[in-house]
Order: sequence, then structure tokens, then C-alpha cells
Amino acid sequence: MVEEHVCPIWVGYLLASPLRKMAQNPDKILSKQVKPGMKVIDIGCAMGFFSLPLARIVGTDGSVVCIDLQEKMIKTLKKKADRAKLADIIETRMCTSDSLLINDLAGQIDFALAFAVIHEVQNKENLFSEIYRVLQQGGKLLIAEPKGHVSKENFGRLIETAQNVGFKIIEHSIIKRSHAVLLKKNNPNILKS
Ligand SMILES: C[S@@+](CC[C@H](N)C(=O)[O-])C[C@H]1O[C@@H](n2cnc3c(N)ncnc32)[C@H](O)[C@@H]1O
Repeated sequence: MVEEHVCPIWVGYLLASPLRKMAQNPDKILSKQVKPGMKVIDIGCAMGFFSLPLARIVGTDGSVVCIDLQEKMIKTLKKKADRAKLADIIETRMCTSDSLLINDLAGQIDFALAFAVIHEVQNKENLFSEIYRVLQQGGKLLIAEPKGHVSKENFGRLIETAQNVGFKIIEHSIIKRSHAVLLKKNNPNILKS
């Protein structure tokens, strides 16, 4: 049974709608940071609104590891990836509410996306530590949280939690209807076990 603070499946369908691109265009949001050949993770990928564009950008020399708590989200994304002939680039994984289960990726990831997911995660410090661990030195994390669900103050607290884990702020990004920030891993000494 999925907890009530977690995005319901019907919202997953809405979030995957092409109409959303009018406000949040994945290519515009991602193309500055994501390049061909990169290895990226999409945390809380749902049905792949960002995962499929990510796969198209990184291409066959790159990869996108898509992680979600809910099986239905992952299964739907898998079907979409097959239909779009992107299944060789997209790897899907289920996680638990306590862990992303990505320790095997330590130090391998160039870019991580956490779009509209962090407010649904209970242990944010652990989440940031797990993301920090899998990023390469200089690897980036883009966080966006919906203004409708997350106040400016709570977004500020969330950034502080990320900074406590070792992330540095690169810039406050502009994404419609969202609070957004681009962070960077740049201190190997803060790497936690
Ligand atoms: C609001 S949706 C956002 C989906 C997607 N990132 C987007 O912007 O279209 C949040 C997603 O995060 C997933 N989620 C919630 N808690 C999670 C956790 N602890 N770890 C990974 N995914 C989680 C939910 O199952 C849901 O698919």
C-alpha cells in the first residue's frame, strides 16, 4: 500500500500529458545540463515525462536510470520506452520509501534529476546522501518542487539539507510553477559512507 503523501497513479497519467510541455518543456529545462553520452538518473520518474527526453538527449552512448517507488509508474514507463525505441538507453528500477537502492552506481552519474519528488520523500537527508554518493565529482543535481505543494520556506529548508550533505548551489533555475535549484557535488571529503 502506497502512503497518502505519494503521488497517485491517476496523477502520474496527468503528469505525462504532452500538454504539460507548454509550461514545462523537458528539452528546454534539460538541454543546458544534459549532453550526449552522459549517464543520468531520473528520481521519482513516474511515467517518464522527463525520462524519455533525457534518453533522447544522452543517446545510445549514454544511459538513463529511472527510479520510482510505484510499480505501475515503472511498468508504464517501460512500455513507453519500448514504443519509443529507447529501451536500450532507459533502465528502470523500483526503490523503497527508505532508499533509492542505487549504491551500485557510486561515482558514476553525471546528472541527476529530482522533479516534483522530494516533498514526497520522508527522509530527505538520506535521499540527498544517496544522490551525492552516485554523482561523479562535478556531477549536478537539478531539483524542482511544485509551488502548489511546497512553500518558499520549505524549499529553502530542503536546499539547506542538500548543502549539509555536501552539495553546493550553482544557480537558482527558472522553471514555471516550480521552485528550482541546480546543485553540484564538489567536495570529495564530505562523501559519506
Ligand atoms: C509528483 S510525481 C513526479 C513525477 C515526475 N518526476 C514528473 O515530474 O513528471 C512524484 C513521483 O515520485 C515517486 N516517489 C515518491 N516517493 C519516492 C521515493 N521515496 N523514491 C522514489 N520515488 C518516489 C512517486 O511514486 C511519483 O511517481
